[in-house]
Amino acid sequence: MENSYFASCSQGVENILQREITSIIGISVEVHKGGVSFDTSEEEALKTLLYSRTASRLFRLFFSFDFNTPEELYRKSKEYPWNKTLSINQTFKIQVLFDRKAKEDLGNSIFISQKIKDALVDQYREKAGGRPSVDKKSPDFPLMVRVEDSESDKALYNAKIYVDLCQVPLSNRGYRMPGHRAPLRENLAAALILHSNWSYNREPLCDLFSGSGTILIEAALIKAKVAPTYLKLQKRDLAESFAFMNQKWFQKNQELKNYFFEERKKILNQTKKLALILKQGFIYGVERDSTYLELIKETILEAGLPLKSFSLSNADALTFCPPEKRKGVIISNPPYGERLNEDTMKELYYELGENLKNNWNGWRAHLLTSNNELRKAISLRTEERLPIRNGNLECRLLKYSLF
Ligand SMILES: C[S@@+](CC[C@H](N)C(=O)[O-])C[C@H]1O[C@@H](n2cnc3c(N)ncnc32)[C@H](O)[C@@H]1O
Repeated sequence: MENSYFASCSQGVENILQREITSIIGISVEVHKGGVSFDTSEEEALKTLLYSRTASRLFRLFFSFDFNTPEELYRKSKEYPWNKTLSINQTFKIQVLFDRKAKEDLGNSIFISQKIKDALVDQYREKAGGRPSVDKKSPDFPLMVRVEDSESDKALYNAKIYVDLCQVPLSNRGYRMPGHRAPLRENLAAALILHSNWSYNREPLCDLFSGSGTILIEAALIKAKVAPTYLKLQKRDLAESFAFMNQKWFQKNQELKNYFFEERKKILNQTKKLALILKQGFIYGVERDSTYLELIKETILEAGLPLKSFSLSNADALTFCPPEKRKGVIISNPPYGERLNEDTMKELYYELGENLKNNWNGWRAHLLTSNNELRKAISLRTEERLPIRNGNLECRLLKYSLF
């Protein structure tokens, strides 16, 4: 049986996520702002959750309805047979997301989440004499409600009630160590690499501004074909990472459980081949700050990857030259200039452009930066400019082919 799902991602990488999901489960998906939606089986949904490198979270749609007033929202939310999905002794949390129109009209999303909570709780109280309780930290049932413009001319709004299948976001792989002030989110780093069409069997990859090493590690996981959930799957308590483990639709379906545990076995087996697959050093990291270089090494080990498959240099990106004869791809997010003054930053971008132009003939470079003025200091022809949101920064992913 097919159900509807929504996979969220950073704004700007929706098309990368679309291609990725199509390659994982072979179906076409619909692109929205901040994610993609698709209809598929429960097995394929779990497969997406286990293997997607770009998604932040995966949600399953439980029900959807049109409404005009908060009272109608309450009434329709109460009609849903909640006891089929949630036991009385389980916990839940409700988060509401508005589109622009709903935000303007309805204003306070807490008021709307309160209405849905009341509907759910009142239904249990009336039918079962008790109620499931709210847990804001790690609920069994993290509900996400999207309120959007209704497509029908009889109603103002549409509510889609989803349950989050993740507990810990998919973007949080589990190898991050504290110590860097501006690390890239893991799923965004992976999206940059996938977008570059890096041919990992023949092209070297180099990050000239490695920071804590996120791009390097994600590149190694892509090359080794290891699912990004591998560290979560190694844990004894899987429900700590995956909310679906405690949800009835999963628990009641023995075939689905068998499927999940088979996939888990496959993924963990693949991690045993890491050292063999990653034995050649195709992945180069450059970082000027030696403290961060140590952090990269610790993080690689935390990720369970062999240190020897990375070639790390404590060097200056502005003078560093290609580490080998084969041509490859540079993927970096240089500093944006939050700490340094504008002139110093312009000089850094200018010098970076000059180094790429003079020394990196035949390579392609993908640079993620938030500062438009700095971009102009690079005197190379920009082949592509993709707007991407990185946390609360409006960034551009710039592509250069170097001749
Ligand atoms: C925005 S951070 C990169 C974060 C990284 N992508 C991560 O996920 O952790 C930029 C990094 O560039 C380093 N850096 C700045 N100037 C540099 C230069 N000239 N050469 C090499 N590294 C430099 C900084 O020390 C900082 O760690």
